[in-house]
Amino acid sequence: MPLTVGPSAPIHTFKRRGGRITGGQADARARLWPAYGVEVDVDGPVLDLESLFGRRAPVVLEIGFGMGEATAAMAAAQPEIDVLAVDVHTPGQGALLRLVEWEALTNVRVADGDALALLDHQLGDGSLAEVRAFFPDPWPKRRHWKRRLVGPRFAALVAQRLAPGGRLHVATDWPHYAEQVRRVLAASEVFDLDQPVPWRAQTRFEAQAVAAGRAVHDVVALRR
Ligand SMILES: C[S@@+](CC[C@H](N)C(=O)[O-])C[C@H]1O[C@@H](n2cnc3c(N)ncnc32)[C@H](O)[C@@H]1O
Repeated sequence: MPLTVGPSAPIHTFKRRGGRITGGQADARARLWPAYGVEVDVDGPVLDLESLFGRRAPVVLEIGFGMGEATAAMAAAQPEIDVLAVDVHTPGQGALLRLVEWEALTNVRVADGDALALLDHQLGDGSLAEVRAFFPDPWPKRRHWKRRLVGPRFAALVAQRLAPGGRLHVATDWPHYAEQVRRVLAASEVFDLDQPVPWRAQTRFEAQAVAAGRAVHDVVALRR
């Protein structure tokens, strides 16, 4: 099932940021990980999403949830949907797990590791109803553009893991990145671009962008 697209040596789309983990985040991560955590493992089996969530429901993969406020808000507002949220940032995993506990959310699972590896090795074809990437790291310098999450390899993986009719929703405050997303999806020939933008919660990075006067671009595409 793993799809090998592009170079075999992965290019990381993230910088491992330090960022101290607070006592509350560390405690939540330690206590709640056994019930809600998923380790990204390139040698691991393909996830059985029904047993992971304990029911059959549409599954959304959210990539790069940061501190998880928007993830929790959307999961609370959309109880009919299951959310598999992946990030490499440990304090954020603790923060999201705290929100899961506070708000008694049963439809969130938190994965630790590289979303590209998760998509490539641990998710089945057609298993996802939606993929969300809200404010992915912009990598503004030209020499770093290859590190951007949304590129041809990502588009090919997402196309394979989304069910027909499934949605890809990317939001960014970098116009050049939004243009790149559109170009990549248009070139893949399995996505219909310029779909209506569904409701989503405002994210932490988005609030900062808006406060700084930057425009937000939502790119929404459906897999044919
Ligand atoms: C700019 S932050 C945005 C966070 C949040 N979505 C928001 O809007 O506030 C991007 C996040 O994506 C995560 N990230 C980047 N590449 C990733 C990858 N390949 N797999 C998992 N997480 C990734 C980073 O660790 C970071 O938390």
